Amino acid sequence: MSDVEKLKKDLISAVEAARDEAALEAVRIAALGRKGKITEQLKGLGAMSAEERKVAGPALNGLKQAVGAAIEARKAALEDAALDARLAGETVDVTLPVRPRHEGTIHPVSQVLDETIAIFADMGFHVAEGPHIEDDFHNFTALNMPPEHPARQEHDTFYFNEKPDGSRMLLRTHTSPVQIRTMMDQRPPIRIIAPGRTFRCDSDQTHTPMFHQIEGLVIDETTHLGHLKWCLEEFCKAFFEIDNLKMRFRASHFPFTEPSMEVDIGCSFEGGAIKIGAGDDWLEILGSGMVHPNVLAHCNVDPDRYQGFAFGMGLDRLAMLKYGIPDLRAFFEADLRWLRHYGFRALQVPTLGGGLT
Ligand code: DAH
Repeated sequence: MSDVEKLKKDLISAVEAARDEAALEAVRIAALGRKGKITEQLKGLGAMSAEERKVAGPALNGLKQAVGAAIEARKAALEDAALDARLAGETVDVTLPVRPRHEGTIHPVSQVLDETIAIFADMGFHVAEGPHIEDDFHNFTALNMPPEHPARQEHDTFYFNEKPDGSRMLLRTHTSPVQIRTMMDQRPPIRIIAPGRTFRCDSDQTHTPMFHQIEGLVIDETTHLGHLKWCLEEFCKAFFEIDNLKMRFRASHFPFTEPSMEVDIGCSFEGGAIKIGAGDDWLEILGSGMVHPNVLAHCNVDPDRYQGFAFGMGLDRLAMLKYGIPDLRAFFEADLRWLRHYGFRALQVPTLGGGLT
């Protein structure tokens, strides 16, 4: 074997033996770099006679090309192998279960909101929304509370500064203005719930300046008190997950309903803890009634043709009762220990079919 043939064989087997791109680069420099074996040989051509060069020139060029091609091929193979290894390492098995420990939890108010929406959606209610900053008309006047009405005093309203015309915007004190907004831009039949934030200047163990309510409104030509009763009974049984829940509809007064009723559920207060669905005590959980004809008239809904019912309840209070959470203020303190203790699993969405909690 000639020297050139031997060199070619050695270099090509060095190329094949390179395990990674760095090793291959080292082989390339040793062969084709400035002081590489092939480069050295090529330099020697100048000192040869024309006859010798005629033979050695093509042989060395052939060597250079063969080794260069082998390096390129090996480089491509190494790159492919590296990519394959990376793809194999980064494979995600989408069928794996989620990690048992995950950090985030669903806040009890969000949980109760999802549960409530699931129940009312099943009865054919849509979710409606309204602004937090309201005017006097939607929050009070249209709800049959004209200026100077005594019920306004009970609301501990947060007002904004007076405008040049003397009017003041306010933070809505209840979700009832969404009834007004809905009736003003939809024609009956109407069947909505309106959950959201509400604001009153009040703070103690069961009151916070911001809290959550959910409003309900049904308007058509035939809905009566019997429908109201059935609807709220169904809701309470489904929400508290107690089939034989005791309930009481007690006559009450709200300016925007006539007749008006408050709904109590049966419970016991033994040992300082509330137990829903047991015992002989009663706990008030919501206000309701047949929508007052004046409210319908304010919204341009003909009270001689249309009627219906409305109800309103505190979502935070529902959460406290259902999940035995004693202090409302802690709901909004964003204390991680509290959230971990009372929070719900993020991927467990409440459904009627799958179970609420
Ligand atoms: N808006 C009332 C409140 O905040 C709750 C309420 C009572 C809403 C009776 C209603 C209703 O729609 O019919 O205290």
